[in-house]
Amino acid sequence: MMQSLMGTEARPNIKVPIPGPNAQKIVDKDHEWVATTTKTSPIAGKRGIGSVVEDVDGNILLDFTAGIGVVNLGHCHPAVNKAVQEQMASLVHFAGTDFYYEVQAELARRLAEKAPGAKRRKVFYTNSGAESVEAAIKVAKWSADRRQFLAFQGAFHGRTAGAGSLTASKPVQRARFFPTMPGVTHVPYANPYRNVWGIDGYDEPEELVSRTIGYLEDFVFKTHLPPDEVAAFFTEPVQGEGGYIVPPKGFYKRLKGLCEDHGILYVADEVQTGFGRTGKWFGIEHEEVEPDIMTLAKGIANGFPMGACVFDAELDFGVKGAHSNTYGGNLISCTAALTVMDVLEKEPIFDNVEARGKELKKGLMEIQEDEPRVGDVRGRGLMVCADFVTDPKTKGFDTEGRDKMIEASWKRGLMLLPCGKSGIRFIPPLVVSQEQVEGALEVFRDAVKAVYA
Ligand SMILES: Cc1ncc(COP(=O)(O)O)c(C=O)c1O
Repeated sequence: MMQSLMGTEARPNIKVPIPGPNAQKIVDKDHEWVATTTKTSPIAGKRGIGSVVEDVDGNILLDFTAGIGVVNLGHCHPAVNKAVQEQMASLVHFAGTDFYYEVQAELARRLAEKAPGAKRRKVFYTNSGAESVEAAIKVAKWSADRRQFLAFQGAFHGRTAGAGSLTASKPVQRARFFPTMPGVTHVPYANPYRNVWGIDGYDEPEELVSRTIGYLEDFVFKTHLPPDEVAAFFTEPVQGEGGYIVPPKGFYKRLKGLCEDHGILYVADEVQTGFGRTGKWFGIEHEEVEPDIMTLAKGIANGFPMGACVFDAELDFGVKGAHSNTYGGNLISCTAALTVMDVLEKEPIFDNVEARGKELKKGLMEIQEDEPRVGDVRGRGLMVCADFVTDPKTKGFDTEGRDKMIEASWKRGLMLLPCGKSGIRFIPPLVVSQEQVEGALEVFRDAVKAVYA
């Protein structure tokens, strides 16, 4: 008999070692039939409520992955699921790129009005983060007679052909796919912990900002990339897949200024940072920057496939057929997204992100005090990372230790994902409770002791 799932459980309950017999069957079938992707752990889910998941063998796990930062309101949020079920009873798909319906227009209005800044915006609906980035590439190309793009080393913008050209967080994402889209230049990111200049960006944030911006101005733009040919600069408010790296305060403001000086569109890729993950609607709001283009996905519809590219109305294609798709803005995903917005507007979820994020970071820093192989603890809101090093002085990447840590955690019932070469990301649903954060930290501490004994 499986116990009933409340969603309030604060500790995992492992009854059968993972993967249990039911999970193993699914894992085996998957390996036979599903293409290789990025699978991390042999956990096969059966049910989920809030931040708690039950696997197919009756184990109760704490989910600090939220479906890779997607189910921000928690698994099976009742209001979202109810709204979707009601919508499903009347109309599911109506080809929103060719015909009309209210939820699509209404969601666009609300997204456009939520975007930072007073400019009028327009919305192109997509089905994923990468597709939102593809749309941003097309908006940028369409609106300016420029064909070059800038992005950061360590960036992640998706894995499709265009978006993948902007991605540069791991060689495996690019190997055997060259030539990628021509015209992309990657430049060093203002990574406070590890940067090409060896600056301690926590102690000297201004120096790091000046060097990174100066490198662009004085070297990139003066030696090989004419800035007046650059259509757009793709950025992540917090570098995500590349390691949850928060740049020093003021960095993005300087970068936006530089972009404005050269007529370069500033793209904030909010696929991971958007919809409350950092404690504000959009991660870029921490930086007082108004992006020209914003890309969204993941948390926007709490698990229903959806993405959006939100851009200055004056950049709109204005010509039918220049861009379109079939599923973008479908009724189910739009309904889910509208409900997500309602919930985020009504409930004190951003306060929870702030409070739980602080507790999580504090707890990880306490673990770091006892175990120096936890080289860095960083992040913003509920986008937190513990970075494992071979030696805190050299900051060498302890990829092997990190991978063992993820395994030791899921074996104990805590679901985690990697980021960067040696980081572990903590991205629970934004509704995670204080007790669940404590429970997760307890498990993690135990795992650290086991791995680094
Ligand atoms: C910042 C960012 N952009 C784009 C993507 C790609 O999104 P998707 O996997 O939905 O295509 C991701 C996915 O992790 C992301 O973190």
